[in-house]
Amino acid sequence: MGLRRIHTADEPALHKVCKTVTSFDWRLRKLLDDMRETLIDSNGVGLAAPQVGILKRVVLVDTGDEILELINPELIETSGEQTGLEGCLSVPGKYGIVTRPMIAKVRAQDRDGNWYEAEGEELIARCFCHELDHLDGIVYTEKMERFLTEEELEEL
Ligand code: CO
Repeated sequence: MGLRRIHTADEPALHKVCKTVTSFDWRLRKLLDDMRETLIDSNGVGLAAPQVGILKRVVLVDTGDEILELINPELIETSGEQTGLEGCLSVPGKYGIVTRPMIAKVRAQDRDGNWYEAEGEELIARCFCHELDHLDGIVYTEKMERFLTEEELEEL
């Protein structure tokens, strides 16, 4: 058990390409358990390992039904487009406007190394794309049109 510190976008961990996971061992399970606790504690929708300072290709996404553990995830199919609000635990207190696919399908490994597929729409598709970007050192602010203004933030 353990909350991990969330690194912010001005820290180097958020700008590195993460390594493929090859050992599905106790260390990975501990990371996943800690990330789950950290995600729930921070009321986020998704969390990527580099956000807690670990440069491994590991992502959690809360679909509303369950928290998916995505290890070595790949985007295998996207369709449609949506332009809307996006935030990030590593960019606290801000929201930007970002265009993403409306539907995104990913392929990933679970904590035992078994491959599976998951499809998301709207917020979940946005979250898949956002979290996978983190694994390549990309923060949404690099893709956004602009930040919301103070007035727009107050209306949220
Ligand atoms: Co983020």
